[in-house]
Amino acid sequence: MRTQVAIIGAGPSGLLLGQLLYKNGIDAVVIERQTGDYVLGRIRAGVLEQVAVELLEEAGVSKRLKSEGLVHDGFDIAYDSDLLRIDLKKLTNGKTVTVYGQTEVTRDLMDARSEAGLKTVYCAQDVEVIDYDTSNPKVKYKLNGQVHEIECDFIAGCDGFHGVCRASVPKNAIKEYERVYPFGWLGLLSDTPPVQEELIYGNHADGFYLCSMRSSQRSRYYIQCALSDHVDNWSDDKFWNALKSRLPQNLAEQLVTGASLEKSIAPLRSFVAEPLRFGRMFLAGDAGHIVPPTGAKGLNLAASDIRYLSRALIEFYGEKSEAGINHYSQKALARIWKGERFSWWMSMLLHRFPENTGFDNKIQRTEFEYLASSEHAQRVLAENYVGLSYT
Ligand code: APR
Ligand code: PHB
Repeated sequence: MRTQVAIIGAGPSGLLLGQLLYKNGIDAVVIERQTGDYVLGRIRAGVLEQVAVELLEEAGVSKRLKSEGLVHDGFDIAYDSDLLRIDLKKLTNGKTVTVYGQTEVTRDLMDARSEAGLKTVYCAQDVEVIDYDTSNPKVKYKLNGQVHEIECDFIAGCDGFHGVCRASVPKNAIKEYERVYPFGWLGLLSDTPPVQEELIYGNHADGFYLCSMRSSQRSRYYIQCALSDHVDNWSDDKFWNALKSRLPQNLAEQLVTGASLEKSIAPLRSFVAEPLRFGRMFLAGDAGHIVPPTGAKGLNLAASDIRYLSRALIEFYGEKSEAGINHYSQKALARIWKGERFSWWMSMLLHRFPENTGFDNKIQRTEFEYLASSEHAQRVLAENYVGLSYT
C-alpha cells in the first residue's frame, strides 16, 4: 500500500491532521493501536481556545461544536474563601473560550473521516516506523496476525506520550525536558447541573479543585490527590464531601451531587521533546509534549502543532517548497513552550505542594493577591487562557 502521509494515532491530533490534509487533496492513512470506542472512552479536558475553534471550522467539523459548545466569557479563581473572576472577554478585547469535550471533538473528527470514506486502520499491532530519515519511509504493522507495510512520503507521529514514533528516535538525536508534579487529579463525571455557569479553579488548604462541565446537565469535577492514591479508595460520597469542604461555603451549598459516570486519577507532568522533526517524520500533540491540565492547554497545543504541520505539508505538495517542513519544529516549539510556561504557572498558583515551606505558601498567596489587585496581571492570564495567536 502507498499513501502520501502515514499518520500514527487516531487521537485528536492524528484525526485533525487527516481531515485538514483531506480538505487539501492530500492522501493519508491513519493507523491506530486501539479500537475507535476505546479512543472515545478516554475523558479529557474540554476548553477550546478561540483559535482552535477556528481551526476546527476550517477543517469542516464545527457544526456540533457551534450548536452544543458553551461559549464562556470568563472563569473564577478561588483561593481559600476568596473568589476572583477573570473576565476573559473584557481583558482580551472580546475573546472567549468554548467548553466542548475532547471526546466530542474526537467523535466529530471520526464521523467526518468515515463520511468521507477515508481509511483508518484500528487495532494495529506492533506498529514500526522505518527509514523515516530517507525519502522513502515505511510503516509496518500487524492486523489480525498479518503483517502490512505502507510506503509513504512522510510519517506524522500523532501517537501520544506513550507512542512508538518518539521512542524510535535514537537517544542522542532528541532532548527531553520534564517536570513531574508530586500529586494527581482525581476526576469525576456526573449527570448533574454544574455548580455555576463558569469554571472555578480553586486553591484550598486541602489542595486544588476544579469545577468544570460538559453541558448544562453534565459536570466534570476534579480534586488534587496523592500520587499514590487509587480510585478504589474514593467512593462517590467521599469525593463529593472532599469537594464540598474545599468549595467556598455559598457554592458548597449549591453543589448538586449524583452518581459518577466515570472516575479516574491522572498524574501531572510537564514534558517537551526537541526537535519535533526527524528527517521525514514529525511529532505532534502529546507525542512531543505534555502539559499539566491546569489551564486546559493539552488539546489546544495539539491543534496548533497540527495547524503548523498541515500547512507545511500543503505547501510541500502545492508549491514544491520545503520551507514549511523545515520550519515546523521551531515554529511549533515556540508556541508549545509558551503553553508549557502558562500551564506550569497555573499549576504553581493553584496546587498545594507537599514540600512547600511557609515562605512558599506566603509567596503563593501573594501571587493570588497581586493577580486580584492588578488588571495588568489579569490581562496576562486572560491572554494566555483564551490562546495566543498563531504566528
Ligand atoms: N501505534 C498506533 N497508535 C498508537 C500507538 C502505536 N504504537 N501508541 C499510541 N497510539 C495511539 C493511542 O492509542 C491514541 O489513540 O495514538 C493516539 C494518541 O492520542 P492522544 O493520546 O489523545 O494524543 P493526541 O492526539 O496528541 O491528543 C492530545 O490528548 O492527552 C490529551 O491533553 C492531551 O488534549 C490533548 C490531546
Ligand atoms: C475539563 O473540563 O475536564 C477541564 C477543564 C479545564 C481544565 C482542565 C480540565 O483546565
